[in-house]
Amino acid sequence: MPGPYPSPMPPHRTFLRVLGVPELRSAAGEPIKFRTKKHFALLCFLATEPRTPHRRDRLTELLWPDAPHSEGRHSLATALSVLRAKLGPRAFETTRDTVRLVAAGLEVDLDRLQRGEVLGDDVTPPLEVGGFLDDLEVSRAPEYMFWRDRTRSHLFPAIRTALVQLMDRCRRSGDFTRIEGHSDRLLALDELNEDAIRAKMEARAFAGDRLTALRIFQAWKQRMAEDLGAAPSPLVEGMALRLRQRGYEAPGTAHIPTVPTDQWRGRAFVGRGPQYRELYARWESTQNRHGRHVLLLGESGIGKTTLAERLVTAAGLEGAVSSRVQCYDVERDVPYSAIGTLVRGLIDRPGASATDPEWLAELARVVPAVAMRFQNLAGHREASGESTRLRLAEAAHQLLTAVADEHPIIIVVDDVHLADDVSMAVLHLLLEAQP
Ligand SMILES: Nc1ncnc2c1ncn2[C@@H]1O[C@H](COP(=O)(O)OP(=O)(O)OP(=O)(O)O)[C@@H](O)[C@H]1O
Ligand SMILES: [Mg+2]
Repeated sequence: MPGPYPSPMPPHRTFLRVLGVPELRSAAGEPIKFRTKKHFALLCFLATEPRTPHRRDRLTELLWPDAPHSEGRHSLATALSVLRAKLGPRAFETTRDTVRLVAAGLEVDLDRLQRGEVLGDDVTPPLEVGGFLDDLEVSRAPEYMFWRDRTRSHLFPAIRTALVQLMDRCRRSGDFTRIEGHSDRLLALDELNEDAIRAKMEARAFAGDRLTALRIFQAWKQRMAEDLGAAPSPLVEGMALRLRQRGYEAPGTAHIPTVPTDQWRGRAFVGRGPQYRELYARWESTQNRHGRHVLLLGESGIGKTTLAERLVTAAGLEGAVSSRVQCYDVERDVPYSAIGTLVRGLIDRPGASATDPEWLAELARVVPAVAMRFQNLAGHREASGESTRLRLAEAAHQLLTAVADEHPIIIVVDDVHLADDVSMAVLHLLLEAQP
């Protein structure tokens, strides 16, 4: 079910929502109630249709079709005076035959949608979007209900686009709590929408609930096949594959990198939208084969590790391979310890075995796991001092390139200031080699 609609930021004007469960709120954000549903329905009609004069006869046919002519006109006049009491005396321009909504002080969400102002900015929050006049049932007014349904189908493409934009914005900000509300609303309108299913799976993954993510995927995939004869896109199919933990394989040997999500169960992620957006943009350029590095700086406990890990999970779902090392003070004097861990995290990945054996031999010299994984590597060349580091950097670069031929890679060096000197030098050389 669609989630509750959060209140808009205190609007400076009276606010009418027609996208979603309709409501009217005062400038102070208080709900304004109607005793007669038809009065509110009339306002929704006049606010949705062009703000041109509407014939009184047409309005009475819409809302009071069973009433005799004079009684219908009287009901309309009553409705207009109720609305004036709520919106102000100059809310309408009327003649004997017509009614026009003026309401300069009324803000209507639909106007914002039609102006394409969905995402908001520093001062305006994103638009909350749902189905047109959700849950509004006006009894004994079939013409009105026809109008509602026609308008709903007419607006559907714009509403769907807005919800996709909102979900995308959440994805780029790492806001996987809010993304779920948008996806639920989109699914309520379009139950097989793939963008919504993807967002829902991401939301569940970031709630540490991959089983539900997988169940949602399975049910959707089956319905897609049965109802439409269609199949998931490779991206969403891949997400499901990566969420599936295959317990019978030793860790690190899986050819499809799995993405663990349990660590996110019950953990909030707040207030890091701008930083996350920056990271996500770099991940996107990495996918376009423009490697980027980023240095996360901040005092202890501020959330650096969490920020990096959130991105690694999100990018992992989208198909990234990652290798991560946590540096510790006690390992600072152990040469190659950091780079060794990073290399170990990559040697089982698809593509790694395509690395030139000469360079694998170079890596094997300082990372025993490489020698164990790739038997029969030739003896390494003698090297010392600077040239060792250069050759090791080149070897790591070759491995990274081979793996990157299959999947984009994210390398995380946490607490890099504690990395050993040799690893630091190698990392530095690798950064310089970025395409
Ligand atoms: N955006 C966030 N919203 C809510 N809680 C957060 C957020 N970021 C981090 N935390 C929580 O704050 C604590 C510290 O976070 P984290 O370990 O990521 O910080 P850090 O900067 O890496 O710290 P250190 O410098 O000690 O390594 C953790 O318990 C984490 O779950
Ligand atoms: Mg940390």
